[in-house]
Order: sequence, then structure tokens, then C-alpha cells
Amino acid sequence: MDNKNVLDIKKVTKKFNGGTVLENVNLSVDRGEIVALIGPSGAGKSTLMNLIVGILKPDEGEILIDKKRITEMNSKQSAKKVGMLRQQFDLVENINVVHNVLIGRFNEWGFFKSFISLFYPQDIEYAKAALRKMGIEDKIYESTSELSGGQKQRAAIARLLVQNPLLVLADEPVSSLDPANAENVLRLITELAKTENKTLIASMHSIEYSRQFFDRIIGMKAGKIVFDDKVENVDNGMINALYEGEINE
Ligand SMILES: Nc1ncnc2c1ncn2[C@@H]1O[C@H](COP(=O)(O)OP(=O)(O)OP(=O)(O)O)[C@@H](O)[C@H]1O
Ligand SMILES: [Mg+2]
Repeated sequence: MDNKNVLDIKKVTKKFNGGTVLENVNLSVDRGEIVALIGPSGAGKSTLMNLIVGILKPDEGEILIDKKRITEMNSKQSAKKVGMLRQQFDLVENINVVHNVLIGRFNEWGFFKSFISLFYPQDIEYAKAALRKMGIEDKIYESTSELSGGQKQRAAIARLLVQNPLLVLADEPVSSLDPANAENVLRLITELAKTENKTLIASMHSIEYSRQFFDRIIGMKAGKIVFDDKVENVDNGMINALYEGEINE
């Protein structure tokens, strides 16, 4: 295997309460790839992401990130390899933006510095630089609860920038944003991934956005990968087959 490989999923099966949710999934992603994960509700997209970040463990098979098993890394090691952006941003609402962004440094710092930083932010330059890239540097000392949805997602991305992982997973990163904000955030995260040579895998409900912003599209249905190809090779027939039998959105 070449040294560009960032994610290697081998024969992964995951069951919940006896029911198979992912079946024999194989997937290999290289450094710098911008991948959209699509498929009907219940296909297993979030489960796959939670397995990649190590929140869940596979019943069979293995997942390697940068050639190491995520389940064998400590939190400091795994934070350097993989970070996650969620639909609901999971920011702490009642603290200033700067503290939320600096949570991205916690694995680097250890407990004491992290604890102190909750009251007196440490290494503020990291937070400033990240917020500047997101275009919201002026919000640094505002309460997180006062940001708009789009600004919150930018703050969550700034926290990821500070964490600086090799692989970024985003589970429906824009589905709670209005179209203008959704497009801005997608443009930001895909361009950032490219300029910083990171790998991005995002689960998406919008086919249109998947085609517009991503290089590779993976279609999942009922726990299996049904297609995996460059965006230009994914035609409407493949998309229709993927969502066949589903209520259209
Ligand atoms: N913790 C859990 N316990 C039991 N079943 C679960 C659990 N998490 C997910 N499932 C089941 O696994 C299947 C896949 O769910 P998953 O959330 O991965 O789908 P998804 O593709 O992300 O769907 P959506 O597009 O709606 O977010 C579903 O049938 C779901 O009910
Ligand atoms: Mg999901």
C-alpha cells in the first residue's frame, strides 16, 4: 500500500441488537480526497463515521487511520488523526467563542492547562488565526449562544482547525443551515481541506451539493456500499437506484 493512504476500512461489519447495520464494508481513502457519503436514511452513514472516529467498535474487520487502529490510540494520538464536525455543532453554549475554539487544543495540553484555559484562555493566537480563516475573528469574545447557526458552524470548524487532524469527518455538516450558509460552509470546508492537504469525508443529504463540492461520491444503502466513484462518473441512474423505494426529499 502506498503512503498516501489515510483511511483503510477492511471487511467491517457492525450489528446492533443482532441486526446487521453495516455488512462487509471495504473502503480506502487517500490523503487530500474530498468524499461525499450519500444514501437513504438508515443506510449506515453515521454508524460508519462513528466507527471511524472510534466511538463505536466493529464486530468484524478493522479500521486503520494512517495505518494504525483507532481503537489502539490514546485520545492525544487519535485527536491528531481524526476530528469530527457534527450537524448540531456540539459547542458549549454558555462560554465565549474563544473557549470553544481552544477545546481543539485540549488533547495537546493535558488536564491542567486545559482546565486553566476554561477561565483564562491560553495560546489565544491559535484561536484568533482559526477564527480569522473562518471570517469571524470579531466574535472571539462573544458568547457562543449569541452566534447564528452559520457562525456556530464556523466556530466548530475553527475548533477543528486548532485540533488540526489528518482526517475530518463531517456528519451532515450543513443540513441545519439555510442554503446561503450551507453553500458558504461547504465551500469553506472543502477549500480548507484542499489547501491544508487534509482528507474530508462528509455525509450529505443533498445530491446537488455533493456534485458541486466533492470529488468522489460513495453511495450507501442498507449497510453496504453500492457505488464508489469520481463525481463525474456518478450518473442519475445510480442516484435513482440508490434512493429507489425511499420517500423523496
Ligand atoms: N445505537 C444504536 N442502537 C441500535 N440501532 C442503531 C443505533 N445507531 C444506529 N442504529 C440503526 O442503524 C441503522 C443505521 O443508522 P445510521 O444512523 O448509521 O444511518 P444514517 O445513514 O446515518 O441515516 P440518516 O441519513 O437518517 O442520518 C438504522 O437502522 C438505525 O436504526
Ligand atoms: Mg446519520
